[in-house]
Amino acid sequence: MSSDIYAVRFVLDGQIHHARGERRTTTVLDYLRDKLHRTGTKEGCAEGDCGACVVLVGELAGDGQRIDWKPVNACLQMLPTLDGKAVKTVESLRRADGSHHPAQRAMVEHHGSQCGFCTPGIVMSLAALGEQQGEGAPPTRAQVTDALAGNLCRCTGYRPIIDAALQAAAAPAAERSLQDATELALLREIARPAQPSYNLDGELVVQPVVRTRKGSEFVSPATLEELSAYLAEHPEAIVLAGSTEFGLAVNKRYERPPYIAYVGGIAALRGIECGPRSWRIGAAAPLEAVMQALRGELPEFAEVLRRFGSPPIRSTATLGGNIANGSPIGDSMPCLLALDATLTLRRRGARGKDETRRVELQAFYTGQKRTVLQSGEYIEAVEFSRPGPRQFRAHKISKRFEQDISATCAAMSWCDDGGRLTDVRLAYNGLTPFPARARELEAAIEGRRPDELDAATLDDVIARSYTHRDGLRATWAYRALVARNLVLRFVQHEAAALAAAGTGER
Ligand SMILES: Cc1cc2nc3c(=O)[nH]c(=O)nc-3n(C[C@H](O)[C@H](O)[C@H](O)COP(=O)(O)OP(=O)(O)OC[C@H]3O[C@@H](n4cnc5c(N)ncnc54)[C@H](O)[C@@H]3O)c2cc1C
Ligand code: FES
Ligand code: FES
Repeated sequence: MSSDIYAVRFVLDGQIHHARGERRTTTVLDYLRDKLHRTGTKEGCAEGDCGACVVLVGELAGDGQRIDWKPVNACLQMLPTLDGKAVKTVESLRRADGSHHPAQRAMVEHHGSQCGFCTPGIVMSLAALGEQQGEGAPPTRAQVTDALAGNLCRCTGYRPIIDAALQAAAAPAAERSLQDATELALLREIARPAQPSYNLDGELVVQPVVRTRKGSEFVSPATLEELSAYLAEHPEAIVLAGSTEFGLAVNKRYERPPYIAYVGGIAALRGIECGPRSWRIGAAAPLEAVMQALRGELPEFAEVLRRFGSPPIRSTATLGGNIANGSPIGDSMPCLLALDATLTLRRRGARGKDETRRVELQAFYTGQKRTVLQSGEYIEAVEFSRPGPRQFRAHKISKRFEQDISATCAAMSWCDDGGRLTDVRLAYNGLTPFPARARELEAAIEGRRPDELDAATLDDVIARSYTHRDGLRATWAYRALVARNLVLRFVQHEAAALAAAGTGER
């Protein structure tokens, strides 16, 4: 059943486009290909893995003076999330004078395309990289491979593609730039309201972006109050954030929830603040932004995030979505548990006002994919103390370096008390039905010096404190071995640091 009175408005190639009559779960990819005949954008996997569908989605930057372009997997994104935004497909890169983007020219010159199926997605990822580079230094080879982590090519091989990327990066910034004054003005014109609307009785009105004749809706509130009010009225509504899980539910399980509340337009959910003592990260902050913010203070947490999916996944996937998803192999949870993170949960209370409560992450999960979230309640933010003198280590083990799911990911933090490991927090994913602290292992490590920990002791604790389960990603034997080795890796690093500081004999 389609909508006929609501329109999704977005900027495309210098014009405002109105998408009418679409379902709330029509994907951006299907709309581009089926309705706009932009068939340059391909469907390979429909699950965010191959990158054939990468397009750029633009939003007004914080200062309102430029468009912030991000690579996005069009197969996972719902069309109504584009309302108030801008889009570029590979067709958009051709300039009015017929010339091509430097990434396109370089791909031709370096023979970077054979069958061509992956090529538009690769070109869009390189266009995003070129935009990000701006007037700055060209990316290194490692930065190029990072940018292409979400693009698979089956036939050309990556060397000519990487060579093309390096050549494209040498083009003048003006040729790589995706900024366009006309599109900026249009984007300002269609920007979604930042303030809530009220009816004449002073009640909040959450205006749908899409509403079908049967009454199913897609809403995109601007404030927490609107979201809380909407979820109180429609407790069965799906909270939609980066859509990297939800997109799979739509494409692979054909789920069509009647009510969808998209949180990507709520500025209060997207902030990342570093106070004197603690970090506060809004639930809808994209993981790419979280990674950039944490890189200086928690480099190993940032490294786990660098290996989380790929740039198009991280540009939309959120920290709140990763937590709420409750997957046993969710990657941010071991880090957050080792940092003793606390969640702020919010919902509309009985007296019509919003209420919040704080729940420690370690008490959030009640079973596999089950949490303490109550009807109409959602995650507002995640907070954790800045590490200060605490040590923090984290590492993800997966078959591929990036764009792969963990066999296990571990994180550990501790204080150094005269060479002894104290106040130890150790957490894993992949070993239990939900990511959790490893209490028995923590007890075995507590108060020891790094050189007092040996493999046999850790193996014994692991063997008796877990249910031995083989999984799709790894056997129990492998996970147990990796769980032990990660602890040794973390503490041996500490031992080496102590020895270098001349304190190893204490
Ligand atoms: C190709 C690919 C690679 C991936 N790689 C990884 C990986 O390396 N590591 C990993 O851990 N995961 C990975 N994932 C899984 C997924 O990307 C993450 O779980 C992601 O963080 C989900 O966030 P999202 O914002 O996209 O959630 P969405 O898909 O929008 O939502 C997921 C669930 O969370 C709920 N939700 C979202 N926000 C809130 C909120 N604020 N309050 C309450 N409920 C909320 C939604 O209702 C939904 O049930 C991958 C997924 C794909 C498709
Ligand atoms: S079609 Fe493969 S990532 Fe979208
Ligand atoms: S050129 Fe064929 S998949 Fe890349």
